[in-house]
Amino acid sequence: MKHIFRKENLSKPTFLLFHGTGGDEKDLLALAHFIQPEYNVLSVRGEVNENGMNRFFRRISEGVFDEVDLVYRTHQLKEFIDQASIDYGFDKNHVIALGYSNGANIAGSLLFHYSNVFEKAILLHPMVPIRKELPDLSGVSIFIGAGKNDPICPPEESIELNELLLSAHADVTLHWENNGHRISESELNAVKQWLKNKSA
Ligand code: MLT
Repeated sequence: MKHIFRKENLSKPTFLLFHGTGGDEKDLLALAHFIQPEYNVLSVRGEVNENGMNRFFRRISEGVFDEVDLVYRTHQLKEFIDQASIDYGFDKNHVIALGYSNGANIAGSLLFHYSNVFEKAILLHPMVPIRKELPDLSGVSIFIGAGKNDPICPPEESIELNELLLSAHADVTLHWENNGHRISESELNAVKQWLKNKSA
């Protein structure tokens, strides 16, 4: 898998970055640095090509996911993360997902399949990735950045995702903005503050 690893301090957590549709592994590097510059970064490029745009799993149409492909890519990424933690020497018990849009959806799918893949997850404009029984997510802190007027990830979907994660015992913060599907500065400031509080 095409990726970038930036080592800062192996005794600190590692951000795992997942870009949005049409992006690549460089897209979220500056955001991760803004949120917490002391953490290591592993940033992955989605391997699905949709008319020249990188994605983390196939979709049948806008907002309609190819679930077989989603599940296959989810397990493949879990294996990649485990192997990368050995190759680069970061602690796989302290991995923080940071995903936007399609990247937030694959990070969400990892949470829906594994109880221990992330210690924390920052999901910016996610949808419900799949409807299935969730593992026990006790001890996992999740930030959902949602948009009241997000045309791609509608508010009802953010509310449903929040409820599903809460019912799996995750510690969830649902943060609302009014900037459509865009990542805004106030959203990033909220993420930074959230991470500070959760790391205290
Ligand atoms: C997805 O396909 O994952 C979502 O619809 C968001 C996106 O356009 O990436």
